[in-house]
Amino acid sequence: MWPATLPVGLVVWGAWVLSPPATAALPPDLSMAQMIQMFQDFRARFNRTYQTQEETHERFKVFVQNLARSRDLQASELGTAQYGVTRFSDLTENEFAEKFGLAPPSLPGQLPTGGLSESPLLRKESKSQSCDWRKAGAVTAVKDQGTECKSCWAFATASNIEALWNIHRQLPRNVSVQEIIDCAYQKKGCNGGFVWQGFLSVLNSSGLSGSELYPYVGRNQTCQKHRGRKVTTIDGYEVLPRDEKYLASVVASQGPVTALLNMKVLQSYQKGIIRRPSQACSPNHLDHAVVIVGFGDVKSRRGSWTGSYWIIQNSWGEHWGEKGYFRLNRGSNTCGIAMYAVTAIVKDSGKKTPPPCPGI
Ligand SMILES: *[C@@H]1O[C@H](CO)[C@@H](O)[C@H](O)[C@H]1NC(C)=O
Ligand SMILES: *[C@@H]1O[C@H](CO)[C@@H](O)[C@H](O)[C@H]1NC(C)=O
Ligand SMILES: *[C@@H]1O[C@H](CO)[C@@H](O)[C@H](O)[C@H]1NC(C)=O
Ligand SMILES: *[C@@H]1O[C@H](CO)[C@@H](O)[C@H](O)[C@H]1NC(C)=O
Repeated sequence: MWPATLPVGLVVWGAWVLSPPATAALPPDLSMAQMIQMFQDFRARFNRTYQTQEETHERFKVFVQNLARSRDLQASELGTAQYGVTRFSDLTENEFAEKFGLAPPSLPGQLPTGGLSESPLLRKESKSQSCDWRKAGAVTAVKDQGTECKSCWAFATASNIEALWNIHRQLPRNVSVQEIIDCAYQKKGCNGGFVWQGFLSVLNSSGLSGSELYPYVGRNQTCQKHRGRKVTTIDGYEVLPRDEKYLASVVASQGPVTALLNMKVLQSYQKGIIRRPSQACSPNHLDHAVVIVGFGDVKSRRGSWTGSYWIIQNSWGEHWGEKGYFRLNRGSNTCGIAMYAVTAIVKDSGKKTPPPCPGI
């Protein structure tokens, strides 16, 4: 359990780094006793056990550092996001990047195209002011990629395909994330990959199995090509232009799309709309894949924040962020969200008109 005595240095240092800015969401002037209590609450809530007293001590130090970092984030936040204790609060910034981030990739300037010379499907303009595909029941449940597999890219691929099948075919599907991890061409499995590699593999093998037949195990396996009938196909994929107005139009008229972003601030994110000073979240360090499922605006109320945002599904379970989702400023390429938006193309069944995206 808890070490009986803490070194004086840590106490003094802890009090010093936590001298609070006025706007902090964390209570100001946290005492050592309060931080210890917060750490115990964190461990109970997220079921954290450590092997030794030394490790417990080390993790507490990291926890305190993360509280300080949350304060700094809060002080420089330009949106409404709140930072503080999350399920990742006992990981250093490097550990977090190492466990969850795709190795900052050498992204190709020109992505391989989706096998279509043009994509007339996406040319419908939409003037929707807001959109939330969750309200149409089109978005499948938030998943948890676990801590041992950098598979955000495969979860984003799967969630995009599932939503498009709900919207354009009116057929609910749970596709196999593990099959994408195991079988995608030129990827590194649990060491990362790209959404378009997932799409290329689905196109090449004429579909994906259901998740019941090829369940997620969260580690590398060899590709089991014939496990399960390939029931879910796509017609191609499209790399979208770096234009957030156009992206909103595609989301409203077609459905959720995948995107890459710089995930640094997500470690301490609790809720609200993230907007960072551009130098504080480089749009060129893209290490996480997610799914944009909608967008909206915060209208002016006296003195309050106004702006536009994206609603984004993550793959870190429901006990992170806003029940597994987060919101991010729209229109300023925040954390690089507009850089590599990609979506599968699933053509309409022709039987029923796809539902419109419900407004917020
Ligand atoms: C808590 O963690 C321990 C050890 O890691 C594990 O055996 C146990 O099942 C976990 N309990 C819950 C409720 O997650
Ligand atoms: C997909 O999985 C969820 C539970 O994770 C289940 O409730 C749902 O019925 C499944 N849908 C299909 C089409 O199998
Ligand atoms: C998974 O496989 C890739 C490619 O073969 C390899 O680079 C990576 O180290 C493996 N990861 C794990 C966790 O085994
Ligand atoms: C397509 O499938 C063939 C045969 O299974 C395989 O050799 C090839 O590497 C695959 N290509 C892609 C782009 O997945």
